[in-house]
Amino acid sequence: MNILLIGSGGREHALAFALKASPLCTRLIAAPGNPGIAEAATCVALDPADQDAVVALCRAEAIDFVVIGPEAPLVAGLADRLEAEGIATFGPSAAAARLEGSKGFTKDLCARYGIPTAAYGRFSDRAAAEAYVRSHGAPIVIKADGLAAGKGVTVAMTLDEALAAVAECFAGTFGAAGAEVVVEEFLVGEEASFFALADGGFALPLASAQDHKRAFDGDRGPNTGGMGAYSPAPVMTEAMTERVMAEIIRPTVAAMAAMGAPFRGVLFAGLMITESGPKLIEYNVRFGDPETQVLMLRLDADLVALLKAARDG
Ligand code: AMP
Ligand code: GLY
Repeated sequence: MNILLIGSGGREHALAFALKASPLCTRLIAAPGNPGIAEAATCVALDPADQDAVVALCRAEAIDFVVIGPEAPLVAGLADRLEAEGIATFGPSAAAARLEGSKGFTKDLCARYGIPTAAYGRFSDRAAAEAYVRSHGAPIVIKADGLAAGKGVTVAMTLDEALAAVAECFAGTFGAAGAEVVVEEFLVGEEASFFALADGGFALPLASAQDHKRAFDGDRGPNTGGMGAYSPAPVMTEAMTERVMAEIIRPTVAAMAAMGAPFRGVLFAGLMITESGPKLIEYNVRFGDPETQVLMLRLDADLVALLKAARDG
């Protein structure tokens, strides 16, 4: 197969080496790629937001299978467009990518299907959000609803910090992503990243990992998107993995299918393992960065076959 990998991060670097190692891979092209990826793939300068350009590249290079790395093109519907053009693609539709693209969508889905997650309120009005924050008190968590490149979350340890975060969201710091704000109960426990492959109907556990979130030595800095990772996460025992599959992953995949937005791709659950069991912090609809860098080193299987099976059913 001629494979096109979309993305340019460390995650795509790790995916590129795993894709290239597959006997099913004839030729690997990455767009736009990066200098590390260039050791495994031919890099083509292109903006993944330009869907016409991606389709044109697929035609020019006789691409059989596209693997989309980052969330932004998925939320923007690149997988829908490629599939509509007859190009097999790994990655969810825009409708299914709402699991990452809208925190409010995911919270409502959890509430409706009894999926364990932090208690929350959704607000498009600043005064109402502030009133909710005051009535619950700190610690409390403030989130811009949409995609904010890992920067839209404030874990506020004081009321002042929480109110400042609400003000920041409504001041437009995160653009359209912050027009709606989710305010959440502060969860206490051990975090883990959990990855499952789904084909729209079935989900299979892939692996767990944990990333290092806070900047600076001794975890004294602000939250980041993750600056390093290890796998597996020790809290994710076999029994905990089965609980997460039963209580969180399978109900989500079933709910998405039931609403006509079947999830095909990798479902990445950010979890808090609390005293009362696993709770969903958030979903991502793609592999983690930097988690993928450790997952691909552990993978003892053909990545192309796995991703193609998730896409094909
Ligand atoms: P997110 O961008 O949603 O992954 O959030 C970034 C980080 O904020 C998470 O990895 C957690 O460390 C923390 N966080 C998010 N939501 C909560 C919550 N409800 N309680 C405690 N910590 C949270
Ligand atoms: N490392 C967290 C993420 O990829 O969202």
